[in-house]
Amino acid sequence: MTTKQPDGWSSKLGVIMAVAGSAVGLGNFLRFPGLVADKETGGGAFLIAYFISLLIVGLPVCWIEWTLGRFGGSCGYNSSAGIFHAVIGRPWGKYVGILGFIVPVGVYFYYVVIESWCLGYAWTSFSGGLDLGKDAAAYATHFRDFAGLSADGSVLGLKGPFLFFVGVFLLNYVIIYRGLSKGIEFICKWGMPLLIFIALVLLVRVLTLGTPDPTRPELSVWNGLGYMWNPDDVLGGLAKPAVWLKASSQVFFTLSVGFGVIISYASYVKRNDDVVLSGLTATSANEFCEVGLGGMITVPAAYAFLGASAVAGGTFALGFNVLPQVFASMPYGHLFGGLFFTLLFIAAITSSLSMLQPGIAFLEEGLGLDRKGSVALLGLVTAVGCTLVVWFSEGLKALSTVDFWIGDVGIFLQGTILVYVFNLAFGFEKGWTEAHHGADIAIPRFFRPIIRWVAPAYLTLVFLMFMLRNLAGWNLSFTAPAFSPTEPVLDLIGGEGHPPSGVARLTVLFLIIFTVFTVVLIQRAGERWNRR
Ligand code: TRP
Repeated sequence: MTTKQPDGWSSKLGVIMAVAGSAVGLGNFLRFPGLVADKETGGGAFLIAYFISLLIVGLPVCWIEWTLGRFGGSCGYNSSAGIFHAVIGRPWGKYVGILGFIVPVGVYFYYVVIESWCLGYAWTSFSGGLDLGKDAAAYATHFRDFAGLSADGSVLGLKGPFLFFVGVFLLNYVIIYRGLSKGIEFICKWGMPLLIFIALVLLVRVLTLGTPDPTRPELSVWNGLGYMWNPDDVLGGLAKPAVWLKASSQVFFTLSVGFGVIISYASYVKRNDDVVLSGLTATSANEFCEVGLGGMITVPAAYAFLGASAVAGGTFALGFNVLPQVFASMPYGHLFGGLFFTLLFIAAITSSLSMLQPGIAFLEEGLGLDRKGSVALLGLVTAVGCTLVVWFSEGLKALSTVDFWIGDVGIFLQGTILVYVFNLAFGFEKGWTEAHHGADIAIPRFFRPIIRWVAPAYLTLVFLMFMLRNLAGWNLSFTAPAFSPTEPVLDLIGGEGHPPSGVARLTVLFLIIFTVFTVVLIQRAGERWNRR
């Protein structure tokens, strides 16, 4: 008979590395530059909305989540549902934490697929196979075939892209199986410094690009930086609700706060460990990687070689069509390209691990499964979800449908719920004191009204706007660069020249079944917890 060893972090630095690893991901190196470069919702206005959102929702929700997580851990819970059960203390309380399971697991369905593209591209680049010459169309075709964009089911089989996917999928579970400190913490402790090192090498390379084509002096890396960072039409931009929606959802996504990851990670820290400074450190590390590295590498490089039109094509196009072409035009391009995609892969895997851990924690404590059982069950659920995304690859329909409902709507909802639970169910004053228990620094006092009034009001307002805009079919033309949020809605409700898509409906049906399944699990978990 074996006795269950409680899992936990091996050091204070370890948990910060793990949270930073979760935060720094594709969001920093692909999604953020894509959003800023997109003049529709981007530019200076986007950045202002972004930094305001960071201050009034990002940091506050981060501290709230660390605080509630550590509190839940001290009551003996490590999953979002368990922690809400402990915090709210009513029979329905546990269901309020449902999205803390659904969001991370649901995002995993497609995130791991993109992660496998990164590894595949790194491999192809190092081996010289990504140098496809000067013809832009060749790069687009390569990506189309790799991701199966032109036909459903075309990725499946014993071929490169599919093997990369299966390998990366399994690798995630091997690491998760090893547990918190030997798995996640170990990978993040090595991965994060390596990631920053690679990013700095690439940054130096990009900033020394100068003017690659002397006959076209306007295409320089400095003009690329200017294209990305110079504010234009700030007031006009800030008047657009879409800009605020994009900015605040990017803040949630990139910090991975609000939807179950940090609450679960923080539940493993000790009762007297600091949470305020840890939260701030992880957030700062993420912002350094997002603004300082992510914002300086891709767009300026692409601009210097190919000009503004190449930059504006959206996140995936930028990462997987434009950049390979850019690398192919510089000396030792296959090495720099390989490094870039390795960077993306490391960033992605430390994030995808954080999508699995909350699920594992829930299955273990809710259903009493051991590590093997929980890994097997979650493996099965995610295998089904991923198969859907991998199979229905044409036009990335399944991917963007999951991203919209889970990665946009779900994230927003759970983040908003978290703030309300902290203020109302836990109690603001009690929460403020709890946050400062064992804290190495104090939260500046002006965050009191922010947490209490501004954050909930802002989130509620943005959420209402978001629902109205999308679901009532207003302004459906506002396009997002990749991770496209409006397309699936159009797909579902149809619209002019846009028949509803079967794939989007099927995907939503699957998500509904997944939700019902989770409700049943939580209900069973509740029976166990009541017996405690
Ligand atoms: N923060 C990650 C990024 O920027 C994404 C991420 C990590 C995430 N864990 C998550 C998104 C859990 C949703 C759910 O790429």
